[in-house]
Amino acid sequence: SNSPRRVLRGDVLDFTADPGFNPPGESPGVRFRPDHLVLIEGERIAAVQPADQPLTPDWQIAEQLDHRGRLIMPGFIDTHVHCPQLDVIASYGTELLDWLNTYTFPAERRYVDESVADEGAERFLEALWAHGTTSAVIFATVHKTSAEALFRRGSEARMRLVTGKVLMDRHAPDGLRDDVAQAERDCVDLIQRWHGKDRQSYAVTVRFAPTSTSEQLVMAGQLVQHHHGVYMQTHVAENRDEVRWVAELFPDARSYLDVYDRDGLIGPRAVLAHGIWLDDNDRAVLRDHGAQIAHSPSSNLFLGSGLFDWRLAEQSGVNVSLASDVGGGTSLSMLRNMADAYKIQAMQGVRLSAWKALHTATAGAAQHLGLHDEIGRVEPGLMADLAVWDTAVGPVALHRNGLARDLHERLFAWITLGDERNLAATVVAGQPRFVRP
Ligand code: GUN
Ligand code: ZN
Repeated sequence: SNSPRRVLRGDVLDFTADPGFNPPGESPGVRFRPDHLVLIEGERIAAVQPADQPLTPDWQIAEQLDHRGRLIMPGFIDTHVHCPQLDVIASYGTELLDWLNTYTFPAERRYVDESVADEGAERFLEALWAHGTTSAVIFATVHKTSAEALFRRGSEARMRLVTGKVLMDRHAPDGLRDDVAQAERDCVDLIQRWHGKDRQSYAVTVRFAPTSTSEQLVMAGQLVQHHHGVYMQTHVAENRDEVRWVAELFPDARSYLDVYDRDGLIGPRAVLAHGIWLDDNDRAVLRDHGAQIAHSPSSNLFLGSGLFDWRLAEQSGVNVSLASDVGGGTSLSMLRNMADAYKIQAMQGVRLSAWKALHTATAGAAQHLGLHDEIGRVEPGLMADLAVWDTAVGPVALHRNGLARDLHERLFAWITLGDERNLAATVVAGQPRFVRP
């Protein structure tokens, strides 16, 4: 065929099963293939083979990218992040509800402007690539144009992204509210034009229960029910004041989660950020529907929201993925978020292995999103969405790295000390999208 061919050489790491909360030495599913070649044909991975095995003659003319000594991994999957909130990342001093009113809502209003939305989408996707993230579940703003801009940029790069126009028809300032009828028209139009095209997926995007009327939640549930394969994304049980407010606004609902569940919003493609303040009943509902919690560690710490009990969620059968939740979160780096996740579990007496963290941000997220045949592993036939990493940068990390006695120790130090400065290259659909300057 005439598809461009590329070969990456390095140490390939991915996961074939969930390592769980097991000790590092007793974790299933870790697949480490030192000094291998990843053969890319067009957008897809064609083969993975030991570097000392000769290439067939037709591959010898391919472009060779020598990353010997570096880690080649599936690109990370960030399951909850807000495109417009790069404008408010690292804003001082507030908890969730104040933070929304003080910083976030004013910033999101600017996205009504088509050029702000388009430049914002471009800046945002390039930032994801520069952090080794190749797929994301993204909040746009209430404005149709902001989702449109992400879809346009995402499809141009053939990047797997899931996004949608935010639904919010109350408890938000002028310029940030829609209404049920217009919102429905905008969603249907976006679904028809983008969903299932060029690796784009639509997500019915309920901001959170307080900013939607009951009528809007019913409409959102119908959209999810009537359009095959669309996702649903929202926030749930993040902050205690928020949970109290939802109880006041929806006195008939059994719980915060029930506000979504009773309108048919909870299904296998539902991605709910946070879920810190859920009860056993809620966890059973999430489990029974195959919905997932997008655990957002840096956001939970930065906004003082609480400590998510990951192991309890897992023991309850709930799917959990990892997310940056920028701008509540303080870094697009999934490594920084893994390091924060480790500390959140440590506060609760649980230890998160590098295996579990890395699996969750790759094959685990792909599985929970129903995309495991497309992304999340370095496997022939899957899309070539890859990131290449130096496991140590700078004198302290290099020193520590040199003392590591096994692979887990080395990679745990990488996660704990590393960030986007460790990234050497990012490939999306076979195309280099980031190369370290
Ligand atoms: N809840 C409702 N909106 C938001 C948001 O933008 N960020 C976070 N972290 N929580 C929310
Ligand atoms: Zn969020």
